[in-house]
Amino acid sequence: MIETIQWIDDCVVMIDQTRLPVEEKYVHCRTYQEVATAIRDMIIRGAPAIGVAAAMGVALGVLRTPDEAVDGQFETICETLARTRPTAVNLFWAIDRMKRLYGSVRAQPVGEIRRRMIEEALRVREEDIAICRAIGRNGEPLVPAERTILTHCNAGALATAGYGTALGVIRAAVEAGKNVDVFADETRPFLQGARLTVWELQQDQIPTTLITDNMAGHFLKSGRIGCVVVGADRIAANGDVANKIGTYSVAVLAKENNVPFFVAAPISTLDLTLASGDQIPIEERAAVEVTHVFGQQVAPEQSRVENPAFDVTPSRYVSAIITEKGVARAPYEDSLRKLAG
Ligand code: MRU
Repeated sequence: MIETIQWIDDCVVMIDQTRLPVEEKYVHCRTYQEVATAIRDMIIRGAPAIGVAAAMGVALGVLRTPDEAVDGQFETICETLARTRPTAVNLFWAIDRMKRLYGSVRAQPVGEIRRRMIEEALRVREEDIAICRAIGRNGEPLVPAERTILTHCNAGALATAGYGTALGVIRAAVEAGKNVDVFADETRPFLQGARLTVWELQQDQIPTTLITDNMAGHFLKSGRIGCVVVGADRIAANGDVANKIGTYSVAVLAKENNVPFFVAAPISTLDLTLASGDQIPIEERAAVEVTHVFGQQVAPEQSRVENPAFDVTPSRYVSAIITEKGVARAPYEDSLRKLAG
């Protein structure tokens, strides 16, 4: 099993996702600042995984801060981690959870506070794996047997504490004995599909074909794709879905070709405070991710570049949202609120 993120000997240990698939290297974060850098630099990425990293980062911050400074430093620790990436709401969800716990234990001896914070961060990780398994179980019946499933970006074990959301649904379909194979969009500019999804599914011997992003329409039209399954970074109350840039184009092409488009995500990815996806903050990343492909320049000097890391798919393109608590369908205002309880 792939270990995306672990707590080992009072360090946060992550597989370096910027090096995969060429190198399997692990990064040891000894401070909360190192965890924040790892999230910003996408050593760890994927909405649930950065939530787990943030929870562990808060625990690490409390662990490493001298006794007398913990109370004064706590907000700074949380703020530093919150400023890393703006779109995936799981990051803020995890920090809020750690803040709530801190509020309830802050009057206790520092040793006890540290113990409780570490315990909570480990619980966030364990729960995430169980949640992904439940998403898989709930999504599996929607996957047609003997068909090809298209996915975009990486919403797998590497994007979570383990098993994955979209790839969790695919894993559950395989475990249920369905003969399925996967088409993985390469996912420019960061290549999460090519580098991570293909690598991860190869580990499990799930047959996977790599395509470039601009081939998705061709294959959706061809009749070869039985359904699309993707993850999400934030889902608004009306069911609009922020996910990796390029997801929207896939969703429109899926609808045009009558191919079901499923989103798999934990309840912690819902942001019911936002009425629609228009209010979701979209991260803009460095131009060099577009002008260069792994150090190799592919555009002229001084090229004007835009690099939004995510787009928003309007809910009318979403056939269903698969969560650990069940499957939501339109009208999402009602179904998502019911699931969120
Ligand atoms: O920029 P990334 O790699 O963090 O973006 C990841 C995605 O868009 C995933 O699809 C999403 O976080 C869901 S992961 C289970």
